Amino acid sequence: MLKGVQIAGQLVFDPLRRLLDRGFGHRLNPLNFLGALTIYFFWIVLVSGIWLFIFFKTSVAGAYESVEYLTHEQWYLGGVMRSLHRYASDAAIITLALHMIKEFLYDRHRGNRWFSWVTGVPLLWLVIPLGITGYWLVWDQLAWYVALTSAELLDWLPIFSESMARNFLSDEVLSDRFFTLMAFLHLIGLPLFLVFGIWLHVLRINGPRINPPRALMAGSLIAMTVLSVAYPALSQGEVDMTTVPSSLGLDWYYLLVYPLMKHWSPGWVWGLLTGTSLLLFVAPWMPAQRNRASAIVDLDNCNGCARCADDCPFGAITMMERSDGKAYETEAVVDPALCMSCGICTGSCPTATPFRRHSVLSPGIDSPDMTAAALREKLLEDSDKLEGTHRIIVFSCRDHAQSARLKSRLDDAQTMTVAIICAGQLPPPFIDFALSRDLADGVVLAGCPGGDCQYRLGADWTALRVARQRDPHLRKRVESNRVALGWQEPWSACGDVSGIVAALRESLPVGTGGTAGIPSSRRNPWRVPVTAFVYVAFAVMVGWLSVWPRFQLIDEGNAMISLSFSYAGQRIRECRQLTQEELNRLAPNMRKPQDCPRERLPIRVVLSSNGDTLYEDIKRPTGLWKDGSANIYKRLTVAGRSQKLFIGMNESGQSPEFDFVLEQEVDLAPGEHLVVEFDDIQKSFVFKQD
Ligand code: HEM
Ligand code: SF4
Ligand code: SF4
Repeated sequence: MLKGVQIAGQLVFDPLRRLLDRGFGHRLNPLNFLGALTIYFFWIVLVSGIWLFIFFKTSVAGAYESVEYLTHEQWYLGGVMRSLHRYASDAAIITLALHMIKEFLYDRHRGNRWFSWVTGVPLLWLVIPLGITGYWLVWDQLAWYVALTSAELLDWLPIFSESMARNFLSDEVLSDRFFTLMAFLHLIGLPLFLVFGIWLHVLRINGPRINPPRALMAGSLIAMTVLSVAYPALSQGEVDMTTVPSSLGLDWYYLLVYPLMKHWSPGWVWGLLTGTSLLLFVAPWMPAQRNRASAIVDLDNCNGCARCADDCPFGAITMMERSDGKAYETEAVVDPALCMSCGICTGSCPTATPFRRHSVLSPGIDSPDMTAAALREKLLEDSDKLEGTHRIIVFSCRDHAQSARLKSRLDDAQTMTVAIICAGQLPPPFIDFALSRDLADGVVLAGCPGGDCQYRLGADWTALRVARQRDPHLRKRVESNRVALGWQEPWSACGDVSGIVAALRESLPVGTGGTAGIPSSRRNPWRVPVTAFVYVAFAVMVGWLSVWPRFQLIDEGNAMISLSFSYAGQRIRECRQLTQEELNRLAPNMRKPQDCPRERLPIRVVLSSNGDTLYEDIKRPTGLWKDGSANIYKRLTVAGRSQKLFIGMNESGQSPEFDFVLEQEVDLAPGEHLVVEFDDIQKSFVFKQD
């Protein structure tokens, strides 16, 4: 089932990748740097956030005003910074979502990679609240809605004995303390956890790509700055808790689940969030990846050069003190719990050379799944069947989607494909071997589509080794025009490898003659239009979903009633006067004149408008011993017109009679917010309006 989802997802993702390959070329394809781009957007958020913080006033009265000052009075810098802060945060969510989707679709989350995936999930729980607390700080109408809805969500959890949402119903209750808490979470608490979380997330990865290429950084910054200037982020009106905006421009990147609260109970929303998180947590084991044999070190052939440890993309190799008494200082040791069996270490081992005549080919490190010796045998056997003067051997990674198709498409009398685990598995001397022993006239190394290596670094290392920029490199005697990389063309995907094979064949030197070579940098006419289109589309998407479509909080013509109070119901039985005898039996410090049970009865509350019941519920007392107050909190939408409101409460929860009632004709204008409270001193209900 999940395999089906992955295949279906790839059908959507692959064309997007190809499109971006056309414009950016795979070396700059943003889809190959999604994690790094997310971090980069956080950098923009941090820098712009520092500027905002300098001018921000952490108080109920000062917050809105200070943000307005930045937006309008200092629009040329503060306003741009504010917009950059918002848009970079939104952009980070897009790249983060794509990053997660891509890792899942291309099966880069299972096996020993589970750690990066599992540590990624809590990052979502840090990033989203980071955005939410940011919206809170602006203290505009949206912030009020965010604060109220967040508090309603939190109230559902059995953490607070008092309702938190009550703090956001009127100005009198709201204190600066909440602001200080939010500012602390937004500016210090959550960012610190996020930095730690990202560090943990990439801990097991060797050389994680933390920074995107400079061109992508510049392009993204320009796109976000242009968006900030063209479409500045604005506040949505000062908070006035006596009125309710009928609609709000919602940031769908951070507040996606909030509208659900209009129709769902907080319990269902929590259910959705925890259920999704649990599914994500267990995804690496749905189903678990079949363990392939991890790389094996042959100490007899390991000289402790550490190239394998440098090249292993998953940090599975550690150089340890020599254990066999040989004159070398260190030896390679593989941790099977980290090894992804990619074979890249064999490609980096200087002892993996097929030229040995007299000894068995056993490199310092090898993949039991496909040993270097087996590869050499296959090469020698199969290449025998090739004919002609333009024979080509294609080494192709077996783990990418098109590898099976590639063989049936390419193999003929002059061409043979040899599947290897990853292009990075092939030690460069094998290319030299194939050409110098006349097994073939040309060699193609076909990697994963767009150079986006299934094993992270295999494509990079291969390109550098073939270009003679990284050890072990291709020997100088190998003519460059006899070797081609399948992902070198900007718009290449494995489906295009046949084109690369044909181009190599055409360019092969005939006899001692021509040396045409493969045109490696054809002018790409798509570069400018595609990159421009992608940046514009990205900026539009960021700006659009940060306020559109508007969320209808209440329908036009409606008003809102918030029912909010706590009340301690009657005790389960009356207090009893203790007799003198009973008092004497008690220790002197325990003597109280009355014996009262702790437990209280539930309370029943009914609210109606013109005789129609709007709300009716029985609320149990809080506390472990059921001795606390019962909390009533409900937000209701009613028609905005004059109406007879009735509220009744029974403090023993059982009887149909009411102990406290209030009935009053109330003129409720559309958009007005009325709060129904219980005055504990006066022991009566109050309808609070502007
Ligand atoms: C704040 C959010 C996140 C940031 C900044 C981030 C960043 C990164 C970076 C920089 C890498 C290394 C990429 C490389 O060099 O190959 C990475 C790898 C990875 N990330 Fe994230 N990530 C985030 C969230 C997530 C989430 C939510 C998930 C999934 C639940 C996830 C899954 C993975 C996986 C599976 C890898 C390993 C890929 C591999 O082994 O090839 N990440 N992430
Ligand atoms: S690359 Fe080969 S020789 Fe060098 S440390 Fe690793 S296993 Fe040993
Ligand atoms: S097979 Fe791959 S993951 Fe395992 S040790 Fe070698 S390079 Fe590292």
